[in-house]
Amino acid sequence: MRIRAESVLSGKKKTDVLCAFCFEDTNVAIGLGKLNKKIDQTISQSIKEINGKKGKISIIHSHKESPSERVLIAGLGKKNKLTTDVIRDVTGVITKKIHELKIKEFSIIIPNKTPIDNNQIISSIVEGANLSLYEFDLFKKEKSNNKEPDLTLLTSDKNAQKIIKDSIIISDAVKFTRDVANLPPNECPPMKLGEIAKKIANENKMKCTVFSKKEIKSKGLGGVTAVGQGSKNEPKFIILEYRNGKNEQKPILLVGKAVTFDTGGISLKPGEKMDEMKFDKCGGCTVLGVMKAISELKLPINVVAIIPSVENMPSGDAFRPGDIIKLFNGKTAEILNTDAEGRLILADGLSYGIKHYQPSSVMDFATLTGACIVALGTNVAAIVSNNIKFTSKIKAASIKTSEEVWELPINDDYMDMVKSKVADIKNLGMGRAAGTITAAAFLANSVGNVPWVHFDIAGTAWIQPSTKSKSYNSHGATGFGVRLVVNHLMNQK
Ligand code: BES
Ligand code: MN
Ligand code: ZN
Repeated sequence: MRIRAESVLSGKKKTDVLCAFCFEDTNVAIGLGKLNKKIDQTISQSIKEINGKKGKISIIHSHKESPSERVLIAGLGKKNKLTTDVIRDVTGVITKKIHELKIKEFSIIIPNKTPIDNNQIISSIVEGANLSLYEFDLFKKEKSNNKEPDLTLLTSDKNAQKIIKDSIIISDAVKFTRDVANLPPNECPPMKLGEIAKKIANENKMKCTVFSKKEIKSKGLGGVTAVGQGSKNEPKFIILEYRNGKNEQKPILLVGKAVTFDTGGISLKPGEKMDEMKFDKCGGCTVLGVMKAISELKLPINVVAIIPSVENMPSGDAFRPGDIIKLFNGKTAEILNTDAEGRLILADGLSYGIKHYQPSSVMDFATLTGACIVALGTNVAAIVSNNIKFTSKIKAASIKTSEEVWELPINDDYMDMVKSKVADIKNLGMGRAAGTITAAAFLANSVGNVPWVHFDIAGTAWIQPSTKSKSYNSHGATGFGVRLVVNHLMNQK
């Protein structure tokens, strides 16, 4: 979407639709000066009618009485409840309406005198507008030929142009993550993810290495080997390196689970909603989106991304419950359920990355456990960490981008729950008890003391029936986590 800033007075702006926000129980549209007696009256009436209710909009035709053809008033709800997410969401509502009316161009008056920092208002508006028109129509013959409208932000903020540019890069990366995550499993085996990673690496001066099945095996990545061996679509181990910081600066490591389809393997899942397991690659897709964004933003940091990718299938070659495998970290793992596959490939990704790149911190992303949805539902991701300082930075980034996280505890009792009688560890915890935490405890065996935050995005990676609907993510994959991580990385120098 094309978005730019302009510092003209709203009353002077020639535009198809001049949009202004208003708060609940107030009688003014923020930043909308006087236009002309006749329309000003109509606008006042409209403001009264919608009464600033969140997400309500009203459109007034100016009948050539003002430079703008129409005026649109949008409610933000109560002033004391204003968040960046309200702005993002309401901007999405406006943008969808403009698009539906096939209007080619519109302008939004950036609200001032709100409790929120101006930069954050501008970035939320850009994100809301750019993300709200996302559609996945790759496999439709008839595509909507309704073009995206151009948007002008009316503000005198000197930084506006730069913030807009960055926010477009970031929200485009979210759309990229959605595009990859929405690919159906027949069109997106692990090899395809490797190709996509190579493509973004070439476009943005990153190094990309993709290990074949043979290399994965010979390097001792036993978790990836075991989970991947049941499918004709061979596993890949994808490494992306972005280096734009000081040479001596240790990189930040990102690891993302990319199971291109999770049938459960020999511990086969029930058929209902099994199609949704095409989204089991979302963690890896989030990591790809973050790498695309930071390389386009040219952040002055070093980041290494590792995406272990497999298809978890039942077959004569598949791994079985009862198998004992050896992970990259040298520990043996007893397989008690082949559907607990994510932790096996992530464990390898984490320990390989830590051994070869000595990162200063590690984050991993995975649609890891159904238990995460039981605990937190579909709007909040679980995080588990070994480092309070790091966690507080992540929580701060999460508040900024409105991608909610909630921390779950981890301690030695949970670590004991993944100890095995016949191997070093086992890939199941204690039945239903603390399923998200025991999965994280399994991973903790591969992390050691490096500051680490694990994100379980099982509930938030795609839209599920219980997902609270937001104008800027309507169906399919959400791209959850991309904005949060990029926001965190923008503050790391
Ligand atoms: N990919 C699933 C987790 C999942 C399920 C995410 C449903 C989102 C929606 C994961 O590989 C899995 O199957 N986990 C099992 C673990 C269990 C066998 C310990 C689960 O959660 O049931
Ligand atoms: Mn599974
Ligand atoms: Zn899975």
